[in-house]
Amino acid sequence: MRILAIETSCDETAAAVVEGRSGPSPHSVVLSSVVASQHELHEEYAGVVPEIASRAHAERILPVVRDALRDAGVGLGWVDAVAVGHRPGLIGCLLVGVAAAKALSWSLSRPLIGVDHVHAHLYAGLLRTQEDPPPAAAEFFPALGLVVSGGHTSLYRLDSWTRLTRLGATIDDAMGEAFDKAAAILGLPHPGGPRLDELAETAPEATADVEFPISRIAPGSLDFSFSGLKTAMLYAVRGVPGPRGRAAPPLTPERSAALAAAFRKAAVDAAILKLSRAVEQSPSPYRAILTGGGVTANRLLRRELAAFSGRTGIPMYLPPLRWCVDNAAMIGGLAYHLLLAGKTADVSLQAQPTTAL
Ligand code: KG4
Ligand code: ZN
Repeated sequence: MRILAIETSCDETAAAVVEGRSGPSPHSVVLSSVVASQHELHEEYAGVVPEIASRAHAERILPVVRDALRDAGVGLGWVDAVAVGHRPGLIGCLLVGVAAAKALSWSLSRPLIGVDHVHAHLYAGLLRTQEDPPPAAAEFFPALGLVVSGGHTSLYRLDSWTRLTRLGATIDDAMGEAFDKAAAILGLPHPGGPRLDELAETAPEATADVEFPISRIAPGSLDFSFSGLKTAMLYAVRGVPGPRGRAAPPLTPERSAALAAAFRKAAVDAAILKLSRAVEQSPSPYRAILTGGGVTANRLLRRELAAFSGRTGIPMYLPPLRWCVDNAAMIGGLAYHLLLAGKTADVSLQAQPTTAL
């Protein structure tokens, strides 16, 4: 089963060709994955401008699809199904991908599969390449899922690829958004998350002169909050306002690195805390932890997730760096399992700015 997948929910125009392989452990093999990033278009605005993003998708979608087919060494006649990330995201951006996928599916008379972008991030750690050996037949469910990206921070229980329950989510900023804003406060260019991560690697967090809060929300809560952490960075750099305020020490390169390290540590600790709570609260043991989203590229988070898996004995499926950030391979990979479950769509498929759960 060969799937052409399209992803345009935010600022990456992406297409991939994925082969779904059946057998004792059905899995998805990535034959090609093309991502045209728009970072350079949004850099001067220090954030994604929706109108600019959707226009760039419209210009790039056909060349990107063509490149994905060329890299996979196949033509359109070879495609058995067309998949598209149809929610959640910026509506004008989603519309471009959904319109392209509908047109291709209709003109090729092939099934259309609508994929939830956040759910697809959870699949990224299970994608295989052609060089990988087929996976051993393994039972993943029930699985605990963590998505941490620029737009989303959510914990899920997965009983199958079509039965997902959201256990918690951010009540304010997404984790990646907090990284990007903290980086902007430190004067790092957009998107700052990866740059803050690099800077944090150069200093021990204990050298920071500010303590960053780890949000607990309430005992047992599986929700996240990152706005307090972001405000702590703002005050550390600009000073505390108000009658009892105080000026901030100068932002030397050493102080900047120490603040970055302490910020990163608090954000990562918050994510690990919610994972621990979810494991404790589960009525039955989880068989896997599935993670994804741009922030899973964070070096400290990767180290801490691996350590968490070691402590709990629950296998962790951490995507390689190229599949942490937005891509279409994860859309095609999950689409294969939705197709196996009979979850196909038709030309009435709608782009939706929010997720169903
Ligand atoms: O998954 P993604 O490409 O897009 C969304 O669906 O939002 O995630 C992008 C986010 C950005 O906020 C980016 O700064 C963050 O992931 N990010 C990182 C790192 N690499 C990407 N945040 C912290 N450390 C990183 N190494
Ligand atoms: Zn994403």
